[in-house]
Amino acid sequence: MDHESGHWRLVKIEGIPLSSKTAENWEQIRGFQARPDDLLICTYPKAGTSWIQEIVDMIYHEGDPQKCDQLPLYQRSPFIELFLPKPILSGVQEAKAMPSPRILKTHLPVQLLPSSFWEHNCKIIYLARNIKDNAVSYFNFSRMNQLILNPGEWNDFLENFVAGKGMCGSWFDHVCGWWKAKDHHPILYLFYEDMKEDPAREIQKIAKFLGLGVPELVLNQIVQHTAFESMKANPMTNYTTLPSSILDHTVSPFMRKGTVGEWKEHFTVAQSEWLDAICAQELGRSGLSFRTQL
Ligand code: A3P
Repeated sequence: MDHESGHWRLVKIEGIPLSSKTAENWEQIRGFQARPDDLLICTYPKAGTSWIQEIVDMIYHEGDPQKCDQLPLYQRSPFIELFLPKPILSGVQEAKAMPSPRILKTHLPVQLLPSSFWEHNCKIIYLARNIKDNAVSYFNFSRMNQLILNPGEWNDFLENFVAGKGMCGSWFDHVCGWWKAKDHHPILYLFYEDMKEDPAREIQKIAKFLGLGVPELVLNQIVQHTAFESMKANPMTNYTTLPSSILDHTVSPFMRKGTVGEWKEHFTVAQSEWLDAICAQELGRSGLSFRTQL
């Protein structure tokens, strides 16, 4: 934390910019003790992590919303590299105290994942979102997150983001790194756009990956409970239970739009064409492709 402003600074760990709090506690995070039955949800920030967390929790609780609504999402599914101001427990502390099976969250790029996840061959769900909507969501989140330095103008933010100078580093390296990792680890790689297109289909994929069945009735309950409007209205999933000194919802809500293609209201034609050219170059041979509209 920057003592003068109270904001996080960015500090590089193995070349990746992370929050100064994460960096200060890096040894604890690196030594994180995964358990074989942990499920890790991994994303670049603002790809729709909360959506998958809530879906998995609902699957684990056989579609019973009352069981899931007992605690805010961030307490049911700890964010392993997050260190918030006291008295809020760190992700590491929350996870340690939690009974199995745990649903954990991380935004770390593949090369920084604590080694115990690989050693225990833990199942991982990776969710990727097209870079344009991801950037717009991240910009608005950076405005409402009072721990992050103000992102300034959209233009400057976008340039920084595409250059990989923001928290968690390059979006390209993140989505590609995890894409490659799925060839040799149990990783279910999902896309936000597919989730929006057919949530029931993607929820079934998740359940199958977890080795769990979801009867039709349960599936419908999960689809309804995890729909954008439901999660936006639910204090246990919309992050309004955190103090406004951390997330200021009057600047922008956490559950903001939840759509594909909203980037068109923010990008100029020149910005869009510029980014398309970079995407063609960066993703060209990866085998990864993204839809920017449905
Ligand atoms: P927008 O800012 O575009 O609205 P994360 O959970 O990784 O922080 O990502 C937050 C983004 O995912 C926000 O995007 C949020 O609205 C969207 N999101 C969260 N839950 C969602 C849901 N149930 N359906 C669709 N989008 C969802």
